Amino acid sequence: MQSFRQFLTEVTTPSSSRAFLRAVRSHTTKPIVHPSIFQIKNVTVSLGAIGEYVGIMVLRSSTQGQGEGTQVMRLLCDLADEHGVTLGLDPVPLKRHPGQQRTTTTQLKTFYGRFGFVRNRGILPDGPSFIRLAQRVA
Ligand SMILES: CC(C)(COP(=O)(O)OP(=O)(O)OC[C@H]1O[C@@H](n2cnc3c(N)ncnc32)[C@H](O)[C@@H]1OP(=O)(O)O)[C@@H](O)C(=O)NCCC(=O)NCCS
Repeated sequence: MQSFRQFLTEVTTPSSSRAFLRAVRSHTTKPIVHPSIFQIKNVTVSLGAIGEYVGIMVLRSSTQGQGEGTQVMRLLCDLADEHGVTLGLDPVPLKRHPGQQRTTTTQLKTFYGRFGFVRNRGILPDGPSFIRLAQRVA
């Protein structure tokens, strides 16, 4: 039986976000360790529906600099457009994993900017600092 919290999440999450998350799930390449964590190629991404947008909480590539982060972000943006979903994130560098390089805030802003993320500037009140509006509404 699903928990009450799970039930509340289900009923308050827009159906477009649920469809988007299911579509992302269909691209995962490794076993699911947690419902909000998706492993695609060598990239781990944690996504969560937060009201009117889907937040990218973590993006980490274990093969930095080989283009996989770009491929996964392109996939996420294409699916977000298909489902009319707005994406949001805060470009804050994660703690360095052994053998990995730290990505700077400037690198992250450039990286996400390539996919159409812009400063929120009150478009989503109380939202994350960077957002990407769906470019084609479902
Ligand atoms: C940010 C990150 C997910 C990008 O994934 P990736 O697989 O390295 O992405 P790509 O290979 O497609 O590279 C895209 C850009 O990332 C940056 N990048 C690439 N290799 C990098 C490295 N070794 N160290 C830091 N940044 C790097 C560069 O700006 C690069 O742009 P370029 O192609 O013009 O050089 C990855 O570098 C990472 O895991 N960083 C550490 C975790 C982190 O801070 N995540 C952000 C949370 S908001």
